[in-house]
Amino acid sequence: MAKSQWYKEMSVYQIWPRSFCDSDGDGIGDLKGILSKLDYIKSIGVDAIWFSPLYPSPQKDFGYDIADYKSINPEYGTLEDFKTVLDEAHKRGLKVIMDLVVNHTSDQNKWFLESRKSRDNEYSDYYIWRDGRRNGKKPPNNWLSTFQGKAWEYCKERGQYYLHVFAKEQPDLNMDNPKVREEVKDIMRFWLDMGVDGFREDVITFISKKEGLPNGFPLPVATGIEHYMNGPHLREYLSEFRKVTDEYDCFTVGEAPMMTPSRALKFIKEGDGQLLDMMFHFQHMGADNIVTNWLLTPFRPGHLKNVFAKWQKKMAKGGGWNALYLENHDQPRVVSRYGSEKYRVESAKMLASMCFLQSGTPFIYMGQEIGMTNAKEIDHLETYKDVSTLNNFGMFKALGFSEKSFLKVCHRAARDNARTSMQWDDSPNAGFTTGTPWFYTNPNYKEINVKAAEADENSILNFYRKLLKFRKENDIVKYGSFRMLRTCPRIFAYVREYQGDKMLVINSFSDGEIAFRAPEDFDMSKAELVLSNYESNPVIHNGFMTKPYETRTYLLKN
Ligand code: GLC
Repeated sequence: MAKSQWYKEMSVYQIWPRSFCDSDGDGIGDLKGILSKLDYIKSIGVDAIWFSPLYPSPQKDFGYDIADYKSINPEYGTLEDFKTVLDEAHKRGLKVIMDLVVNHTSDQNKWFLESRKSRDNEYSDYYIWRDGRRNGKKPPNNWLSTFQGKAWEYCKERGQYYLHVFAKEQPDLNMDNPKVREEVKDIMRFWLDMGVDGFREDVITFISKKEGLPNGFPLPVATGIEHYMNGPHLREYLSEFRKVTDEYDCFTVGEAPMMTPSRALKFIKEGDGQLLDMMFHFQHMGADNIVTNWLLTPFRPGHLKNVFAKWQKKMAKGGGWNALYLENHDQPRVVSRYGSEKYRVESAKMLASMCFLQSGTPFIYMGQEIGMTNAKEIDHLETYKDVSTLNNFGMFKALGFSEKSFLKVCHRAARDNARTSMQWDDSPNAGFTTGTPWFYTNPNYKEINVKAAEADENSILNFYRKLLKFRKENDIVKYGSFRMLRTCPRIFAYVREYQGDKMLVINSFSDGEIAFRAPEDFDMSKAELVLSNYESNPVIHNGFMTKPYETRTYLLKN
C-alpha cells in the first residue's frame, strides 16, 4: 500500500509540556492543562500536535532522558489522561505525534540499572560499555559530549566506562544489539497501537557508532561526532523501524544535526527505500552562530536565504519534502534572533511568512504564534535550568568570561529562552500556573499574551491564523515551484508557481526602508495582496519602498 502523504498538507504545533499549562498549581505543566487548551490549538489552524517527551524521567534533560518508554511522567498525569488528550485531539481533527528518543535513555531506566550491574546479564549489551585505556585509568577514546565534558563515565560496579554523547545521565543505547532494536520497534508499536499518528525521532542520525570507536578529530565540544553522525548502520536500522511505521498510517520526522540536502535525500527521497518522511536540519539556524548556538555572530540574512533556497531547490529536484521551522525547545526565540524586539509584531509576522510560505510542513513552537521573546531579564546563573547552559558556564569561565558576561551570552544562546512559561494572559505567572512556576515567566507577559492577541485583530496570532488558512486553501504554497529573486541582501523574496498561478513573497530583514522591484514576469498591478503586516507604501513601477520588517504576499491567478 502506498503510504499516504497527509503530512504534506498539515502544519504542526509543538508543545514542550513542562511549560505549557499547569492545571493543578504545582508549577509544572500537565496533560489536563493541555486538554484545556486543545480548542485554542485547533483555532490557530494547525492539524497536529507534537509532544516533547511526556514519559517518566528524572528530568536531567527535561524528558529527553527517559526512564520508562511506555508510561507518562506522573508530574504530567497518567496514561489515562494521555488517552483522553489523544481522543479529544482526534475529535478535533488534530493528529498527535510523540517524541521518540532512542539514541539514549536515562541512567534510571531499568535497562541501564540492570546493565550496569555486570558484564553478563540480560541487559549488559544494551549500552556501549568499554574498558578504559592505560589500565582503565583513561576513558576508551577522546570523545567529548555535546553538553560538555568527556563522553565516557566510569561505572565502579561494572568496572567499565559507558558512552554518553549527551549528559552523563543519558547513556547511549547499543543499537548494534538486535534486542535493542526489537525494544525500539516494540515501543513504536505500543504508541501506534494506542492511536498516535507518528514520531519525531530525536537525534536519530546518531544511533549507529563506527566500529572500534576510534578517536575523533579534537573539537571543543562533541569530539568524535564524525564517528557517530550518519554512522555505518544507520540506513539498516532506520529501515527496520520504517517497516513498523509502514504498517500504520503514520508519519516520521527525524532530527538530523549537521545534515545537508544531498545527504538528507538518501533518507527522505520518496519511493522505495524511503526511511523517514522528512528531516529537521539545522543549517538555517546557523545564521547567527558558528557550529553551535553558543558561538554567536551577528545575524547574517544572506546565510538564511541561501540555506532556505538551497533546501527548496534540492528537495524539489530530488523528490524530498522539507520540514519548515524557526523555533523549538532547543532554539532561542526567533524574534529575538532573526527579527527585532523593537519591531516585534512586524518581524514576527514577517518571519512567519518568510518561512511557512515555502514548500514543506510548518512546525510552530508554542508561544511563537504570539511572538514570545528571549528571557533577557534573567540576572542570576542559578535561575537557569538547562544542563547545557549550566555546563557551558564551565567552558566560558575557562575562556575568561565572568558570570555577568556569560549571562549576556545566555540571553541570546540558551535553550532556556524557549522554555519560559507559556504566556496566556496578564494574570500572575501569565496564567500558566496558580503556583510557583518551575522555571521562569518572562516579565513581558503583561503585554505579550494569548488573551491580548485574541482581542487584537492585527495581532501576530491572527496573522498566523490567516497564513495557515491561506496555506491550506492554496496548493501553490504546498506544491508550487520555488525561485529566489536577486534582491538586496536584507530582502528575501521568492516566487512560487503552480498550474499557471504565481505567488510572490517579499520579506524585509531591515529596520529601515529598502526599495524592492518585482521581476518582469510578475505584474504587481494585476496581483492580489493576500497577506501583509502593514498599511503600506503604494506600488509604483512594479515595486515599492519596504517598511521595517515588512512582509507582503501577492497572488497572481492565471
Ligand atoms: C535533541 C533534543 C534536545 C536534547 C537532545 C538529547 O537534540 O531536541 O532537547 O537535549 O536531543 O536528547
